Amino acid sequence: RKKLLIDTDPGIDDAMAILAAFNSSEVEVVGLTTVFGNVYTQTATQNAFKILQLAEATQVPVAEGSHVTLKGAPKTWVADFVHGADGFGNMNFESVEGFRWRGTAAEFIVQKVRENPGEVSILALGPLTNIALAMQLDSSIAESAAEIVVLGGAFFVNGNVNPAAEANMYGDPDAADFVFGQSGNIKVVGLDVTHSCQFTGSELSNLRGRGRFGTFLSGITAFYLKYHQDAYDMDSVYVHDPSALAAVLQPSLFTWRSGQVRVLTESVATGMTVMDVGLKRWNNPHGWTDRPKVQVAVAVNAAETTSMLLER
Ligand code: BDR
Ligand code: CA
Repeated sequence: RKKLLIDTDPGIDDAMAILAAFNSSEVEVVGLTTVFGNVYTQTATQNAFKILQLAEATQVPVAEGSHVTLKGAPKTWVADFVHGADGFGNMNFESVEGFRWRGTAAEFIVQKVRENPGEVSILALGPLTNIALAMQLDSSIAESAAEIVVLGGAFFVNGNVNPAAEANMYGDPDAADFVFGQSGNIKVVGLDVTHSCQFTGSELSNLRGRGRFGTFLSGITAFYLKYHQDAYDMDSVYVHDPSALAAVLQPSLFTWRSGQVRVLTESVATGMTVMDVGLKRWNNPHGWTDRPKVQVAVAVNAAETTSMLLER
């Protein structure tokens, strides 16, 4: 059983992923760490408690993460147009408190990985600020985690914030570029594959009445579906974060390509992910210097992935 630490900005698809993790016998959720992204960090923490209450897993600690980017910039916007101002489709649930870990998210990540060397899978579902901070606290974290699976990036397709950038990369490009420069078992699941993983409007409404998780998700996804209808003219939603969970549960559902990845930290294309697909040797003075390789998902068995996720 993999020990799973989830760094998250819940967020509708984050909630889907976390609840699906609780229905997955392959993993044991050992903690949630929160970050800004879909919502501000404090709201992310409240939403994490709400999810744990629903999952009857209030023994799982939540460590609140950074409120500012790696460079120290305060957050000035959130994705309320996708997830609602409350992150849960403007359902405005009553806030609940739970087991709040006394320390930062980065400290929590370091402690969990040190306690269980080689055993913790980190699933990063938001901007990579906390993960980068943990690696800066302890440079051995990247190598002593069993794996770090990141939902983020748009490698050979357009982004979703703008043509260049996917939201989690755009949220803290410096953190992302730092994380992808560390050696370790790092896997990246981006829009290249998550755009193939969708739940239809009727699949979402059919969740109603299918247990506590189903009813909760069918409620909060109404807003998320509306966004997809308006923005993309589709009658389904992307299941980004759950797809990254699927990569933890069953990596063979994906085709992986190994290469160096950089994230643009300045310019009109801030947050853009660029992968070296390794077809050439950069035998010239302008090639990028060596960086460790990460695994990027370039194809997915979408039918099996989505049916597994929907079931869970
Ligand atoms: C990612 O951004 C957030 O809106 C989602 O929760 C997901 O993590 C998709 O680009
Ligand atoms: Ca997310």
